[in-house]
Amino acid sequence: MTDTPGLAFWNRVADRYAARPVREPEAYEDTLAHVAAHLARSDRVLEIGCGTGSTALRLGGGVALWRATDASPEMIRIAGAKPAPASVRFAQAEAGEAVEGGPFDVVCAFHLLHLVPDLEATLARIHV
Ligand SMILES: C[S@@+](CC[C@H](N)C(=O)[O-])C[C@H]1O[C@@H](n2cnc3c(N)ncnc32)[C@H](O)[C@@H]1O
Repeated sequence: MTDTPGLAFWNRVADRYAARPVREPEAYEDTLAHVAAHLARSDRVLEIGCGTGSTALRLGGGVALWRATDASPEMIRIAGAKPAPASVRFAQAEAGEAVEGGPFDVVCAFHLLHLVPDLEATLARIHV
C-alpha cells in the first residue's frame, strides 16, 4: 500500500480536505440522488477511494452494508471519527485490494478512477 501513487500527498492534505466545503453542492446532491436511486436496502456496497467518508455517511444508512475504503490512513482516520450509521464501515485499502464484507452488490468510486495508474488492471482486480 505504501506504493500507492500520491499517498503521501493524500495523507498530508486529509485534514484540509475534510474541512473544505463541497465545491459544487447542487451537483453533489444530484450525484447522491442519482446513486441512491440505484440502490436497494438489501445492497452491500463497496466504495473505493472514499476520502473522509462524506458520501458513505450520506448514503450508507440506506443499505445493508456500506464498506468505504481508501488507501490513505489519514483519510480513513478522519472518516472513522465521524458519527456513522451502523451499516457504514471504513477500512484502509488500495483500489483493487480484497476487502472484508463481500460479496458486494455494488462497487462505486467518486473522483478516484482518474488517479489510478493502470485503470484496466485496477478494474480487473476489484473484488466483489
Ligand atoms: C479526489 S479524492 C476523492 C475522495 C472522495 N471519493 C470524494 O469524492 O470526495 C481521492 C481519494 O482517493 C484516494 N486514493 C487515491 N489513490 C487511491 C488508490 N490507488 N486506491 C485507493 N484510494 C486512493 C485518496 O486517498 C483520496 O482520499
